[in-house]
Amino acid sequence: MHKVGVLVSGRGSNLQAVMDRIADGYLPLEIAVVISDKADAYALERAAKAGIKTVAIERKGCASKDEFEDKIQAALVDAGCELVVLAGFMRILSGSFVNKWHHKIINIHPALLPSFPGLHGQRQAFEYGVKFSGCTVHFVDEGTDSGPIILQKVVPVLDDDTEDTLADRILVQEHIAMPEALKLWAEGKLQIEGRKVRILA
Ligand code: GAR
Repeated sequence: MHKVGVLVSGRGSNLQAVMDRIADGYLPLEIAVVISDKADAYALERAAKAGIKTVAIERKGCASKDEFEDKIQAALVDAGCELVVLAGFMRILSGSFVNKWHHKIINIHPALLPSFPGLHGQRQAFEYGVKFSGCTVHFVDEGTDSGPIILQKVVPVLDDDTEDTLADRILVQEHIAMPEALKLWAEGKLQIEGRKVRILA
């Protein structure tokens, strides 16, 4: 079974969706460690409840970004991870960290990239006035939300939406998209060709 490490910062609903799909047999993966940059993240409670090893590594407890990322790296290596999953991890990883995990970091973003990268993807889309938004699961490269796209899910933006109702509609799709992408990865069905990710039959 492939071992993955999941990086989180908060609520952890995407982590929960992955744990649930592992538990019901859909996803042939083992979460070897959950690492949070916030010691009080609810995601850590979810992981602990499921018997998964948890580690909190806070940026403010480290002298530099290098030290912060070195600790994350050590925790991932220690747990034997082959893939890093960013599930609501709200920090930008440095180029040197990303290069250590070339095409081995997968992120979920709450907008249809390349539109609305960075923070608050749902709010950006809502305020822009687009008629459709969604979520994107992609490999991480050195840019911000710019790596090869694995899959996307689309939702409509309705006239009476608020930022929150749109975010909720997107989140439902996130919880489908992330397990789907990880299953394709676990089964060796993702082939990266430049910017494009081919999904093998
Ligand atoms: C999700 O909507 C995820 O797409 C977003 O944070 C939320 C985390 O929710 N990630 C980003 O914006 C990354 N730039 P969760 O903790 O409940 O999974």
